[in-house]
Amino acid sequence: GTTLGAAAAEKGRYFGAAIPAFKLSDSQFVTILNREFNSVTAENEMKWDATEPQQGVFTYAGGDRILNHARSQGMSVRGHALLWHAQQPGWAQNMSGTALRNAAINHVTRVATYYRGKIHSWDVVNEAFADGGSGGRRDSNLQRTGNDWIEAAFRAARAADPGAKLCYNDYNTDGINAKSTGIYNMVRDFKARGVPIDCVGFQTHLGTTVPGDYQANLQRFADLGVDVQITELDIAQGSNQANAYAQVTRACLAVARCTGITVWGVRDSDSWRGNDNPLLFDRSGNKKPAYTATLDAL
Ligand code: XIL
Repeated sequence: GTTLGAAAAEKGRYFGAAIPAFKLSDSQFVTILNREFNSVTAENEMKWDATEPQQGVFTYAGGDRILNHARSQGMSVRGHALLWHAQQPGWAQNMSGTALRNAAINHVTRVATYYRGKIHSWDVVNEAFADGGSGGRRDSNLQRTGNDWIEAAFRAARAADPGAKLCYNDYNTDGINAKSTGIYNMVRDFKARGVPIDCVGFQTHLGTTVPGDYQANLQRFADLGVDVQITELDIAQGSNQANAYAQVTRACLAVARCTGITVWGVRDSDSWRGNDNPLLFDRSGNKKPAYTATLDAL
């Protein structure tokens, strides 16, 4: 393959990018997107604050713009994210207890129902585990509604869109550590009890290096009977950037259940990471050494 998407497809994978709706009017951006990628994620447009700005009032304009562009180009869509402690609308931030639990599950049901049949994989729950050594849950208004909020969200998502792959997604989970092991134990428990979970997303926002046990970590999750996906890849610029991208790509290809890779933006100027220049295209839209290394690894 001569593009990321085509090369990944030859290996039975997708290669995606996160995109904001407003950049669909940037012709250089769209040229690269359409040429290189066969999957997209809405960078912000499908989050809770964007899709339910007032309780019970649902707005899908931004998400639909991205979805329609993707469909017109034959790209699949990752849904991101139904429930998260961040980017909640103000009304939800101020809720708690049963009222918040009911509102959260209603949100999952309504958004997943609206997009039923159009989303390849949903990040049903994003970033629910704590950093550091505890291996436990992150404190949040959602967590305070009861430890079963995650499984309730997955059951609601399955009922709303039985065809979507349902993922748990998080960061700092790229190597084998206390946080990734906490998630591993949750997934194992969900599989044992029949809670519907199909995939785990590894955001893979990296500094300059890839954890040595990155592939082994992906593999241990795959061995639980879930797909794994690299969902928000970006790696800080430095002398190792191209090599690190190749390492991540090779790790995914080496794990049969690693079904695709998404980079969190297209050009360095599109990145949420300011001056890290962590992406595959430079600020002028040129392919970087990291691009070539990734394509060569596919
Ligand atoms: C980021 C977006 O890129 C920014 O535009 C926004 O201001 C904040 O969120 N983990 C996630 C993503 O799951 O949703 C975040 O996206 C990056 C970290």
